Amino acid sequence: MEVNNDLNREIPILDWESHLAERTKGMGSSVIRELLKFTQDPDIISFAGGLPAPELFPTREVEEACIYVAREQGRKALQYGATEGYLPLKEYLAASIHKYGIPAIPENVLLTNGSQQALDLIGKIFIDPGRYVLTGRPTYLGAIQAWRAYQAKFHTMRLDEQGMVVDEIERAYHKVLEDSGKPPAFIYVLPNFHNPAGTTLSLERRIKLAEVATKLDLAVIEDDPYGQLRFEGEYVTPICSLIPERTIYLGTFSKTMAPGLRLGWIVCSEALMKRFIQAKQGCDLHTGTFVQYVANDICKRGILKPHINKIREVYKERRDTMVDALTEFWPEECEWTLPEGGLFLWARVPESIDTNVFLQETALKEKVAYVPGVHFYPNADGGHHAMRLNFSYSQPEVIVEGIKRLGMALKKELAGK
Ligand SMILES: Cc1ncc(COP(=O)(O)O)c(C=O)c1O
Repeated sequence: MEVNNDLNREIPILDWESHLAERTKGMGSSVIRELLKFTQDPDIISFAGGLPAPELFPTREVEEACIYVAREQGRKALQYGATEGYLPLKEYLAASIHKYGIPAIPENVLLTNGSQQALDLIGKIFIDPGRYVLTGRPTYLGAIQAWRAYQAKFHTMRLDEQGMVVDEIERAYHKVLEDSGKPPAFIYVLPNFHNPAGTTLSLERRIKLAEVATKLDLAVIEDDPYGQLRFEGEYVTPICSLIPERTIYLGTFSKTMAPGLRLGWIVCSEALMKRFIQAKQGCDLHTGTFVQYVANDICKRGILKPHINKIREVYKERRDTMVDALTEFWPEECEWTLPEGGLFLWARVPESIDTNVFLQETALKEKVAYVPGVHFYPNADGGHHAMRLNFSYSQPEVIVEGIKRLGMALKKELAGK
């Protein structure tokens, strides 16, 4: 072959699709990432992303911590680190979450690149092609996306105001066993301020879930990014404190510190930890050392607790603003959940309106964005008349304007039907 160094020559197009692995065909782009593009347009009011309020990011504390870490700990903080994570941060995390009933010790905590990486690692070590995952409907879009890449199938259970209807687990388990010849890989649960539904799984249901999971020998994934963001109501015992031996608990700094740090953690039994470490090694060797040192410095200064209290206060006000605006401006036939914490509420519109079509044909023209409900149904068997609305990102006056625009457009649409 002759070497042609002319960079201006025409390069033939390769059919890359034919080179890809079978499983890659099942991968899709995240609708949320696509919708996030709208947040770049200053004219669009976006309730679509799961973005924390940027004005609450602890920028000054991060700046101080970065300077301190670079100056005083630079030689270690810029070096490769252990796959398990930075020990002082693991110690801090274990001690602080232990108080909430999460059975953590430094040895069973693994730092990850956000909980999204934890979801991917779970897929990597648990899901064979065609294996079923049990979860609610709706469920977290990012988990669907992560596990589709491993060719998972989904069997879903209904959600009501108290979260997943756990009475359906046993039947679902047997149906999966009958259809695939294998038990489900695990059950995936969003216990607090569900994304997207906004619901919290009641204590009664957590106990029931723990009993059924034990009876069926089912592993449980407890994904809890919002647990710390409770505005009102009582703290509910985590599932991992009821059945620590079979629960993999996921936490993150994304909603309490900043998502751009990409810092999350897994708590699981030490026997399983070794598998996560192996899976993570192949993936990225370890989570960024520098960022772990910075987070550790911020945690050690004791500013996180008052910071989280501030976030709770602001988000509660925004939730109330959104709910008041929904009550004032939306058609009477619509309904929505009232989350006791977190970032989202779930709104339902009359059946004559398909929220996917309405987004494309009307809402975006009115310069408002949301996530249509169907995207949170892994089998696309519902959510056509629902949407997820984020209340943490926008200022109260923007929330009112966006909800008003949507309400007017919904009323017009209904009047025309
Ligand atoms: C339920 C749930 N799990 C996981 C994640 C991923 O979070 P992280 O930023 O820690 O990767 C999110 C983010 O919104 C989420 O809502």
